[in-house]
Amino acid sequence: MVEASTVNILANKVASTSSAVPSVHSPAVTGTKDAAQKPLGVLPTMTARMNGLLMKTATRTLVREESVPRDPAAGVLKSPKVVAGPTKIETRGLNFYYGKTQALMDVSLEIPERSVTALIGPSGCGKSTFLRTLNRMNDIIEGTRITGDVLLEGRDIDDSNIDVVALRKRVGMVFQKSTPFPRSIFKNVAYGPQISGCRDRRLLAEIVEQSLRRAVLWDEVKDRLNDSAMALSGGQQQRLCIARSLATNPDVLLMDEPASALDPGSTSRIEDLIFELKEKYTIVIVTHNMQQAARVSDWTAFFYEGHMIERGLTSRIFTRPSEQRTEDYITGRFG
Ligand SMILES: Nc1ncnc2c1ncn2[C@@H]1O[C@H](COP(=O)(O)OP(=O)(O)OP(=O)(O)O)[C@@H](O)[C@H]1O
Ligand SMILES: [Mg+2]
Repeated sequence: MVEASTVNILANKVASTSSAVPSVHSPAVTGTKDAAQKPLGVLPTMTARMNGLLMKTATRTLVREESVPRDPAAGVLKSPKVVAGPTKIETRGLNFYYGKTQALMDVSLEIPERSVTALIGPSGCGKSTFLRTLNRMNDIIEGTRITGDVLLEGRDIDDSNIDVVALRKRVGMVFQKSTPFPRSIFKNVAYGPQISGCRDRRLLAEIVEQSLRRAVLWDEVKDRLNDSAMALSGGQQQRLCIARSLATNPDVLLMDEPASALDPGSTSRIEDLIFELKEKYTIVIVTHNMQQAARVSDWTAFFYEGHMIERGLTSRIFTRPSEQRTEDYITGRFG
């Protein structure tokens, strides 16, 4: 567990932040009075890092918490902002093998709809493998085997009756490295609807515009839709790939380190975009950036050596993780 003194420091930091953002109710604010009596500075590095994370989380969550009723006596929110919606995707006892190598061990995880779930953990722990099991992208890798269940709205996606192409339209994927086709911006976005049989130019134009608007790219490209997608910047290409996924009208977006190759400005735009998209979509994002996980996600799941060690509200995982390994990872002791 996080040391009591650390909880206290976090609480102080939130309290001081709270003068500017009084409505934030973080679990850290509920740090015990006993903790306040104990000496500070036991884990200065960890504390500094976590303070940074929490401050950013606190600032970001304000926007989402404003409409939640307050407890006038306490002066803070009565309940945490994130209320788990219905489960969109659930894995039960998932095991995954590359040949004889087992990459996922007994992973059971619920992903609530219209929320952002961040998958974190050190390199090689199985985050990308897990993400790919959610739309059967691992099927295309030779010699792999899966046991256990992946349920999309309660239906097993490994069922032999499932149409895999339709599944991947419902569960879209955005990769770490943007992967536009060497075609025009328009054709990149229109590709999905076109291969689904949409031939109506006007309808395609509408879908392209709507998808580019949702991906917050429209204003930058509306006058050059016929230019090559390869001429866009890295950040624009990544938003184009998001628009391309949105064009097939998915329910779920899987994002594997979508901003890891981008500069801070583009990263921030992608994060803002994720924040807006979750109004409509269920998002699962893999990230190595702890601040990003703290900023954009509602839920966080920590993976380690193929196991899902712990999952909970992001605000709790980053302040009061239940497992020592989670704490060690998010505070930078390994990974
Ligand atoms: N195509 C593959 N064939 C064989 N083994 C693989 C393959 N892809 C991944 N693995 C192995 O499966 C394990 C999990 O890999 P995975 O890519 O899911 O990790 P990750 O958590 O996404 O790592 P990173 O943070 O570096 O992207 C690793 O041991 C990796 O070497
Ligand atoms: Mg990966």
